Amino acid sequence: MKVSEPASKRQKFANPFKPGAGHMPPYLAGRESEEKEFRRLLAQTTILENLVLTGLRGLGKTVLLERFKPTAIQEGWLWAGTDLSESMSISEESLATRLLTDLSVVTSSITHSIRNEPKFGLTDETQQITATLDFATLVGRYNGTPGLVADKLKSALEFVWSILQMHGKRGVIFAYDEAQNLSDHAAKDQFPLSLLLDIFQSIQRKNIPFMLVLTGLPTLFPKLVEARTFAERMFRVIFLDPLNEQETSEAVLRPIKNNNCPVHFSPESVQTIWGVTRGYPYFVQYVCREAYDVWVQNAEAGQSMSPIPVREIVAKLDSDFFAGRWARATDRQRELMSAVASLPNCESEFTVQELIESDANRALAKPFSSSHANQMLATLTEAGLIYKNRHGKYSFAVPLLGGFIRRQRAYLEGGFAQLE
Ligand SMILES: Nc1ncnc2c1ncn2[C@@H]1O[C@H](COP(=O)(O)OP(=O)(O)OP(=O)(O)O)[C@@H](O)[C@H]1O
Ligand SMILES: [Mg+2]
Repeated sequence: MKVSEPASKRQKFANPFKPGAGHMPPYLAGRESEEKEFRRLLAQTTILENLVLTGLRGLGKTVLLERFKPTAIQEGWLWAGTDLSESMSISEESLATRLLTDLSVVTSSITHSIRNEPKFGLTDETQQITATLDFATLVGRYNGTPGLVADKLKSALEFVWSILQMHGKRGVIFAYDEAQNLSDHAAKDQFPLSLLLDIFQSIQRKNIPFMLVLTGLPTLFPKLVEARTFAERMFRVIFLDPLNEQETSEAVLRPIKNNNCPVHFSPESVQTIWGVTRGYPYFVQYVCREAYDVWVQNAEAGQSMSPIPVREIVAKLDSDFFAGRWARATDRQRELMSAVASLPNCESEFTVQELIESDANRALAKPFSSSHANQMLATLTEAGLIYKNRHGKYSFAVPLLGGFIRRQRAYLEGGFAQLE
């Protein structure tokens, strides 16, 4: 498109698709049952269940959390929280500061009156003055309470609720994204994750409606349970799945329709996108964005609509999304993951037994024994490439990684990107 064209025309061709971490899609497909479940949790008067929203990379956790926010606010809740990506080495004190900071952002305009006691006998009249629930007030309450971090924090939170309930608030949601980054650090005698769980369990027992909504990778929930076994009962876990075929089709077609876009995806193109992406939301946005750009360029050049250039888009996706992750693995790790990729069930879940008995493992110059495989799977889990579920079964932690690995092999053998 030429820059000199009128803005309206440029706008008409604007690509609506948004592949990118945390970017709200032009149309958020599916997720009705998750929204319903969230509304059920919002209806609790005593908080018995908090929420863990989990799933692989790019499944739509961040945008769904963002979507929940107005729902909660409409129901009278306050919404506090942040993204914990940077919080690897958090201490108990810094967790307390985190919670009070996030809370004060939403309470700082709420007022309460305090009695100002006379000083030095200058006057014997006590005065009522108005103060706000800002950060200084919350920290004042925290510091003014003797005891451990947990005692101080509970006191500050209980104080905030005593005021909020007078203002008719329904409760407060504490929403933390990338919460798998929270950890206890026994060596440093710092247990911020356990502290978080203890605090919420304790205040919820006192009927204070402060609810935790944590999102993160599938390592999150096992981590919570490892820190405190009661976490098992404290959370409703929602595991996000890829979109189904119908939802994928809506994710593709609705943005075009709603924006009156000049290009259209034919039923065959929608079918192709489903075949390539298998409903993984990030991939849906990615492939649609690329296809849309190609069509707009073709239209400008006066060419007719062509089928989606699947091979080229997949090759671009391979280098944009997968290649960096693959490059960080060692040769031996790649051998192991290639053997995994040869398993028919590699995109769902597999066992170590299946892996070591596979033809691909047996064909290696040095086949993996089960103890070697176990060790390496643990390292790959740490690196975020493999995920071990609660039943001890494994899967790739990156969606559709198996297909990428098989394509790599095809490239090496002199072929080109083949779709499966
Ligand atoms: N329901 C949906 N319909 C259409 N597109 C979606 C949907 N959910 C997410 N997306 C798109 O998928 C991409 C990834 O979403 P998001 O960043 O929320 O995933 P995530 O699970 O938080 O990923 P990560 O684990 O990397 O943080 C974004 O481009 C977003 O627009
Ligand atoms: Mg995210």
